[in-house]
Amino acid sequence: MGSLEPISNAHGREIFYELARRLHANVARNLPDQADAVLTLPATNYLDAAQFEREIERIFLKVPLLVALDCDIPNAGDFLSYAIVGRPLLIVRGDDGVARTFLNVCRHRGAALTTAPCGNARAFVCPYHSWTYDRQGALKGVPDEAAFGAHGVEGLLPLPTDTVAGAIFASLDPAAHFSAADWLGETLVRSLEALRLKEMHAYRRTSTLASPNWKLAADGYLDGYHIGFLHRNTIGTKGINNRNTYDLLGPHVRIGFANKGINQVDELPEDQWNLGDVMSLVHYIFPNVSISGGHKDTIQLSRLFPGPGVTESTTVQHQYFYEPVEGEMAKVAEAKRITYEQVVRDEDCSTIFTINEALPAMTQVPFLFGRNEPGNQSLHRTIAAMTAG
Ligand code: FES
Ligand SMILES: [Fe+2]
Repeated sequence: MGSLEPISNAHGREIFYELARRLHANVARNLPDQADAVLTLPATNYLDAAQFEREIERIFLKVPLLVALDCDIPNAGDFLSYAIVGRPLLIVRGDDGVARTFLNVCRHRGAALTTAPCGNARAFVCPYHSWTYDRQGALKGVPDEAAFGAHGVEGLLPLPTDTVAGAIFASLDPAAHFSAADWLGETLVRSLEALRLKEMHAYRRTSTLASPNWKLAADGYLDGYHIGFLHRNTIGTKGINNRNTYDLLGPHVRIGFANKGINQVDELPEDQWNLGDVMSLVHYIFPNVSISGGHKDTIQLSRLFPGPGVTESTTVQHQYFYEPVEGEMAKVAEAKRITYEQVVRDEDCSTIFTINEALPAMTQVPFLFGRNEPGNQSLHRTIAAMTAG
């Protein structure tokens, strides 16, 4: 993939350089960033249907979710549609340039306005009886409207939506009030700004994988410890295992990974480091999105959809690039999509499904999260705090 150098803003460089120096120091001392103590968690926590319901009610139906990137819907009328925890979403950019989230539900009798996962629409016309909504969700046409009297319907049901650093957040709670910047916090906003998400280009083909309990999948995203073992022959070959940086940013986590070129930090002036050789990077946006990469030439975004049952989830993987995904780049993108799909399906998911199957036999034994797994510890502490009582 060429010698593309995407990091043009000085601010972003400083963030990556500092992470590279911390990774270099961790490699030198033979330790990752560490938690204060070991955390234990009952294995049954992953199998408890009542706990799962609390996670849906108090986390997924409440907190801001990263529902799209700006670059998924760059133009007026661009939309995405998908359902999460039983809520069908329509995320659309209006003629005023603002990204909004609606329930993908017609106000007449509830039909989906579109079943396409993405596209561009001049208007949204319900297939059932042709009620028509504009790109800002306003109801514009009702065949035989007189038959409905004073129906009072003004438009689609909106969900609170806010955008920061090229990422679009929505809450599934129509009454929620939130600021995306406050939800992420200053450090994470600056870190995501450094990725320049807004300037990326989405590859439209995605991969959809069956995964077990959503927290088992989330554990994999937050775990730097497994890369050199489970992925030793694939994505783990370029890394130095278990020397990660972990930044616990409220409920979110930023994980740095040392790569075999980390000694460039010692040997070269920083503007000559090849950051892709030096380090890898994951931003975990609580509760269900992992953004991998971005300091080099590509990003992979994985979104976890919990359910329908406690032992089920779905993982959807998206690829983004700093140049348009056309011609040769489309071939690169497809190769990347297939590689990550294979790695996650054949290595991560197949392994965590074995955990899923073992859970009924683990009722008396806790899981252990070592001092080298502070990202996982943070995830489980956050979930426990949000679902307590
Ligand atoms: S359900 Fe949409 S127009 Fe009837
Ligand atoms: Fe993995």
